[in-house]
Amino acid sequence: MAQTLSTLAYLVASVLFILALRGLSNPETSRQGNLFGMVGMAIAVVATLLKPGMGAGGIVIVLAGLAIGGTIGTVLAQRIQMTSLPQLVAAFHSLVGMAAVFVAAAAFYAPESFGIGVPGNIKGASLVEMSLGLAIGAITFSGSVIAFAKLDGRMSGSPIIFKGQHMLNAALGALLLVLVIAFVITGSPVLFWLIAILSFALGFLLIIPIGGADMPVVVSMLNSYSGWAAAGIGFTIGNLLLIVTGALVGASGAILSYIMCKGMNRSIVNVLLGGFGGDGGAAAAGGGAGAADRAPVKAGSPEDAAYIMKNAQKIIIVPGYGMAVAQAQQVVREMADLLKKEGAEISYAIHPVAGRMPGHMNVLLAEANVPYDEVHELEEINAEFADADVAYVIGANDVTNPAAKTDKSSAIYGMPILDVERAKTVFFVKRGMASGYAGVENELFFRPNTMMLFGDAKKVTQQIVQSLQK
Ligand code: TAP
Repeated sequence: MAQTLSTLAYLVASVLFILALRGLSNPETSRQGNLFGMVGMAIAVVATLLKPGMGAGGIVIVLAGLAIGGTIGTVLAQRIQMTSLPQLVAAFHSLVGMAAVFVAAAAFYAPESFGIGVPGNIKGASLVEMSLGLAIGAITFSGSVIAFAKLDGRMSGSPIIFKGQHMLNAALGALLLVLVIAFVITGSPVLFWLIAILSFALGFLLIIPIGGADMPVVVSMLNSYSGWAAAGIGFTIGNLLLIVTGALVGASGAILSYIMCKGMNRSIVNVLLGGFGGDGGAAAAGGGAGAADRAPVKAGSPEDAAYIMKNAQKIIIVPGYGMAVAQAQQVVREMADLLKKEGAEISYAIHPVAGRMPGHMNVLLAEANVPYDEVHELEEINAEFADADVAYVIGANDVTNPAAKTDKSSAIYGMPILDVERAKTVFFVKRGMASGYAGVENELFFRPNTMMLFGDAKKVTQQIVQSLQK
């Protein structure tokens, strides 16, 4: 009876997780999606605690783990800035990977607790699942630690490349396969730990050649790996919910990686082989050497911008990372409201990799209650720039850089971009001439129809709001 109830509860939790993913696919339903996920997880935890054979000791250990992990998670989540979420996510994935390693070790050393045999005589199928969970978990752990260090600026975002790197990785991958086969045949503890050590090394080696600009794809791929590691471990310990949840995380992470690769016009193989978009070196230094040869930059004041926008019919706002840093989303909406009163049509153009995480700009605009029907994805809005009087680019840079279309040597070559330069007037709100994340100079700053509005995104927009109110 208890077993049936727990299976039923796991089924309900699985359905809630699927509904959660569905909800998260749209800003309008994302809160509800989150709620489904939380309820599903609460049901899963309670059902696990009530599982037959759990025992008082087991319950105390799970509750203690929940209290410690929950407290650390809550404190971290409250302290973290929105702009640092990608590195937090990378750090969390490293924990999922490590958990898979620990569970594999627990199953290996105490197989009777999981009903998969006795020490020295574990079922062959369980050894396969265990070694896969262990290997993927260890790769996820060290790979995520490197992704965290790169995203957090603790390590250079430049690709670390050396001669024979791909050959070395391929050889280590082959060696890993041999070790897994030998482990499944012999069940040797030495091989278990060799698999772990080699996988930790592989995770490290696979991520170091990947450049900063590709990190979002890598983080979502590691997310996918962590899901598959959990699913593998779910098979080992015979936990249906872990298999379903792991597969959901694995599949959704893989789909997200694909969507992001498409957004950046990159193939996943290309990303994995590394080398795209370093931290920019000289170009990132602010303005770049080429600046001296170009037309002078035209800088304007917020009052100038307010005057031009007051007389505009069609305005497209292009938010980017700088809007997130300045937390300018609320004042951007105030500005848009005032301009609408003046008769302007306002829309927002969202690039798939604007900001520092998928959906970053959508979240910020939703937070400021910007109506969803004014927010458009790149493909929907790109043709509209040609009819726009003003493109108000606030803290965005790479996602507007035409070098992606023209300069084959550029780190962002091939990435689709927002064609802001086709608007009659382009305002760039940023603090100086620095390049963006990919470290590539943006020649739009020097175009005759561009006016730079130098300053913090929030302050400049606030001044425009004040001018509009006069
Ligand atoms: P970026 O190209 O990074 O440009 C942001 C600009 O904002 C900078 O040039 C900076 O110039 C300006 N800025 C910073 N703080 C500001 C402030 N307080 N006020 C005003 N401006 C400020 O951003 P983007 O156009 O959104 O492009 C995103 C980039 O990040 C892409 O290269 C993408 O591949 C990468 N990336 C994306 C993700 C995801 S999934 N979205 C994750 C990681 C990396 P100043 O210093 O001159 O002010």
